[in-house]
Amino acid sequence: MLSWDEFEKKEITAAVNTQAQETLSAITAATQPEPVTTAGSSVNAASDEKEPTAMQQAINNLATLNVESGLEELEGAAMRVTVDEKRMINCRADLNQLVPFKYDWAWQKYLDGCANHWMPQEINMNADIALWKNPKGLTDDERLIVKRNLGFFSTADSLVANNLVMAVYRLITNPECRQYILRQAFEEAIHTHAYQYCIESLGMDEGEIFNMYHEVPSVAKKASWGLRYTQELSDPSFTTGTIETDRDLLKNLIAFYCCLEGIFFYCGFTQILSMGRRNKMTGTSEQFQYILRDESMHLNFGIDMINQIKLENPELWNDTMREQATQMILQATQLEIEYARDTMPRGVLGMNAVMMEEYLQFIANRRLVQIGLPEQFRDAKNPFPWMSEIMDLRKEKNFFETRVIEYQTGGALSWD
Ligand SMILES: [Fe+2]
Ligand SMILES: [Fe+2]
Repeated sequence: MLSWDEFEKKEITAAVNTQAQETLSAITAATQPEPVTTAGSSVNAASDEKEPTAMQQAINNLATLNVESGLEELEGAAMRVTVDEKRMINCRADLNQLVPFKYDWAWQKYLDGCANHWMPQEINMNADIALWKNPKGLTDDERLIVKRNLGFFSTADSLVANNLVMAVYRLITNPECRQYILRQAFEEAIHTHAYQYCIESLGMDEGEIFNMYHEVPSVAKKASWGLRYTQELSDPSFTTGTIETDRDLLKNLIAFYCCLEGIFFYCGFTQILSMGRRNKMTGTSEQFQYILRDESMHLNFGIDMINQIKLENPELWNDTMREQATQMILQATQLEIEYARDTMPRGVLGMNAVMMEEYLQFIANRRLVQIGLPEQFRDAKNPFPWMSEIMDLRKEKNFFETRVIEYQTGGALSWD
C-alpha cells in the first residue's frame, strides 16, 4: 500500500527530475556555439543583435581573466615552497601550500583534534534536568556555581573564537598552524553550542546567563581583560613586521592561550567537574570534560606556537617582554582568584576559595614555566590531584575511547 511518505517522496523525485532536466536543457542550449555569421549577411542579422546569454557572458568574461592579478598579493606565490622558507610569523612563502610540513606538532594536533570530534547533543541531560528542577536537588551555593560558570563560559568561548578568526589567523603565517587554528575555531563553536545546550536543557533565563559578562563584575573583568588584546590586533591596518608589533602578537597569544584558556577556565572546570564526581549535574559535567580535553590541546598548541615564535625571533623575548608576560599571568591569576571568591562565598563540594587560590597559583607556576619564565608562587601545591588525573592523556583516551573510535571510523569513510 502506498503511504503518504512514499507518495510525497515520489512526487518530490518527479519534480526534482523535471527541474534537473529543464536546467540541463537550458545549459546545453546556452553552451551550444552561436551560429557563425558573415559580415553583411541578412539571414543572421537578427542574431547579431541578440543579447548574449548569461552563460555566453560568463565564457566571454573568463576569456579575459588575468591570472596574474590577485597572486601579486602573495610574494613568492609562483614558487614551490621549501621547508626552510616556512616561518611562524612574517613569512614570505606562499601560505596556500600546506606541504612540505615544517611544524609536525601543529599537523599532529590538527589530526588529534579531528579524531576527538564530539557534539553536545550526544550527552544525556535528563538527570541534570530532573535535579535542576527539583527545588531540593541542589543547594543555593551549588546553583550559583552552575549559573556563574555557564554565564562565564557561554561568552568566553565566543571571545576566544573571535580572537582567532579576527586577530590571530591572518598574522600566523604558517599553513599547518592555520589548519589547526581553523579546527580550534570550530571546536570553540562546539563549546559555545554545548553551553547553550545546557542552558536550554535546564530551562534557564537565557538573557540573564548570556549577558552575565556585562552584569557580574567577576565575570565582566575576565572578559574585558581578554577583549583588550583582541582589539589591538583586530584593526585591519595592524600588521606584524616590527619588533613592537611582533611583540603585540606574542602578547595576544599569551593573553588568550596561557591566561584565558590556561587560567580563566580552571576554577570553573574544577567546580563543575567536582560536581560530577559527586554525582550531581553529571550531563553538564560530561560536557565540561569533553571541553576540557579540547582546551588542553588548545593550550598546548598555543604554548608550542609561543615558544616557536620566541625561537625564531629571539630579539622579541627581552627582559621587558619577560616582565610583561609574567605580569599578564599574575593579573590573570588574580582575576581568577576573585572569580573563585565570588563563586564560592562558602565551602562547597569539598572545596573553598582558599584551596582554589592555591590551585590557581599552582596552575600559574606551570604556565610560567611552560613559556620559559620562573615560577612566582613558591611551594604552591595542587590541592585537587584528581584534576591532573582527568587531564592525563592516557586516562582521557580510556575515558573517551568509545566516541573517539566512532569518529575515527567516520574519518575513514570510503567514497566507493
Ligand atoms: Fe573552548
Ligand atoms: Fe579553546
